[in-house]
Amino acid sequence: MGRRPIIAGNWKMYKVKDEAYAFIYAVNLELPDKELVESVICAPAIFLKDLVKREGENLRIGAQNMHYAQEGAYTGEISAAMLKSYGVDYVVIGHSERRAYFNETDETVNLKLLAAVNQEITPIVCVGESLEIREAGTTDEVVKKQVEKAYLNVSKAEALKTVIAYEPIWAIGTGKTATPEQANDTIRSIRNVLSTLYGKEVAEQVRILYGGSVNTKNVESLLATSDIDGALVGGASLDPTSFLTLVNAAFKKVKNQ
Ligand code: PGA
Repeated sequence: MGRRPIIAGNWKMYKVKDEAYAFIYAVNLELPDKELVESVICAPAIFLKDLVKREGENLRIGAQNMHYAQEGAYTGEISAAMLKSYGVDYVVIGHSERRAYFNETDETVNLKLLAAVNQEITPIVCVGESLEIREAGTTDEVVKKQVEKAYLNVSKAEALKTVIAYEPIWAIGTGKTATPEQANDTIRSIRNVLSTLYGKEVAEQVRILYGGSVNTKNVESLLATSDIDGALVGGASLDPTSFLTLVNAAFKKVKNQ
């Protein structure tokens, strides 16, 4: 049995309540069996409670961020325990937009990863390089450091409960997708980092997604590679038909295995 693919939509700061409900209603009954493909919507925090209530058998809801502390005087923040208490199953950690605009660092990513796993929430840990780094040819080194720092003090058992999303910054929201080969090569090098940290067995089990301008046209070729286990999708996850097409591409891959 190979690694079960994940298609995770990252809605970012889009949609209002009725649009969010309408989306969930439209996809719920159309999604493939969650034992074959994990379909996840990472929604703005204010929607989480209601979307968890509305999620069908084969849909899971994720947050886009959380605080690393268990509790405390952090006005405006949400803890992993709070997410857990509402039945949220995933959380995106270290998205490049949070790194760029909200002071997310490798250190806070590490603390958030540990806090999420501790609450049995699956962290989707984002890493990825800027265009300058890609052009300088140091992508593997930079991404390696991000992964090593994210997994500091993370045990083998904890690492197995995580998901990584490789998202080159230059490909996010730009319409410029990494080629399947570029994405797969970097993801393979991330797997090598995991192998060094935790051994080959763990490296072979952790799901690593690609993100950055994934759409209904390029998804199949990205998923056809050896090491890409799904996608973290922004723009193309906002429309139900588009999201279902992405999920069905993953389902088709599983069926053909
Ligand atoms: P995009 O965003 O699919 O719109 O490029 C991906 C992401 O930010 O996770």
